[in-house]
Amino acid sequence: MVTVAVVGAGYWGPNLARNIALSDMTQLTWICDLDLDRAARVGRHFGEAKVTNDLSEILDDRSVDGVAIATPVATHAAIAQACLKAGKHVLIEKPLAASVEEGAALVELAESQGLNLMTDHTFCYTAVVGRIRDLVRSGDIGDLLYYDSVRVNLGLVQSDIDVFWDLAPHDLSILDFVLPETVRPVSVSARGADPLGVGLDCIGHLTIALSNGALAHAHLNWLSPTKIRTTIVGGSKRMLMWDDLRPAQRLSVFDAGVEIDDFDAISRHEALVSYRIGDMVAPSLPEGEALKNVVEEFAESIAERRIPLTDGAAGLRVLEVLAAADRSRASDGQAIALDQIYPAEAR
Ligand SMILES: NC(=O)c1ccc[n+]([C@@H]2O[C@H](COP(=O)([O-])OP(=O)(O)OC[C@H]3O[C@@H](n4cnc5c(N)ncnc54)[C@H](O)[C@@H]3O)[C@@H](O)[C@H]2O)c1
Repeated sequence: MVTVAVVGAGYWGPNLARNIALSDMTQLTWICDLDLDRAARVGRHFGEAKVTNDLSEILDDRSVDGVAIATPVATHAAIAQACLKAGKHVLIEKPLAASVEEGAALVELAESQGLNLMTDHTFCYTAVVGRIRDLVRSGDIGDLLYYDSVRVNLGLVQSDIDVFWDLAPHDLSILDFVLPETVRPVSVSARGADPLGVGLDCIGHLTIALSNGALAHAHLNWLSPTKIRTTIVGGSKRMLMWDDLRPAQRLSVFDAGVEIDDFDAISRHEALVSYRIGDMVAPSLPEGEALKNVVEEFAESIAERRIPLTDGAAGLRVLEVLAAADRSRASDGQAIALDQIYPAEAR
């Protein structure tokens, strides 16, 4: 049993607390929130957990193995740092921190302390993303040609972070998880808009050039009349369509592609281009709460003394793309090389 405390009992923290309390691999020991009443309200559901508004009580409790942090992004680094310094393993909500510098310092601290730092990239623990990863990484879809995602809905216009920092961590963490190991993002261009004048971008377009020449794109929008969660992954042999709002058929695998028969043709007109549209298969995928898998991976990786599937480094790679997107937005969508954000030799 890995003993875990939850810090932050707002919207997401109670979901973590519930999964930690229900898992056979973890025991929920504390719930901490600056708002003690809120911590107590959540704590009422989990009899054995103590409640506090003082993090130091958790840090001083030697029986606590790990801390799960679900507080606003701006507070992640300070809380995680205190936990790591106190010898606790850390599971931290996405995004890992509010800047690349903060994230890099956390990764370094966890390493030097010999502790696990795991980022909750929730979607990476769903069956559908696991299957997409297998199909892409095994070469089943052929060469990756593009990754195209739409993540739009009406609300929630957040007060502390814009639409890029709110929604893009999902797409960026999924992309990081499914890309073949030899393919990495190289540059980022982004445009955002704040048509309501709320002081934060509510609409965002994020384009990422990948090292194999493919392009990834995410469309993020808080002002869409309907919720859309669709991702298309194009391969040279097969193409995948993931609609997360269609539980009966989340994933469709199309045996479709474009074939060019004569690459040596002098002109494009002479090349023999054919389009292949074969069968579509909808794999059956188990349903289940991804957060349960997140909590179990946290516990297992601690027990087995191994790096978790979505570690601090994965969280840091997401921050690098977000930082590049910030810089690109500030310079009218100019492409920003990721090496300018965090040099490869520092990774
Ligand atoms: N993985 C996901 O799918 C997912 C979904 C939603 C939110 N999140 C992440 O979870 C985190 C929290 O988001 P939320 O929507 O629950 O926010 P929230 O504002 O609803 O809750 C945050 C809670 O943290 C408490 N808090 C703030 N500072 C604190 C501190 N220093 N010590 C203790 N408690 C403190 C607040 O009082 C509040 O109760 C964010 O990082 C967010 O990105 C992840």
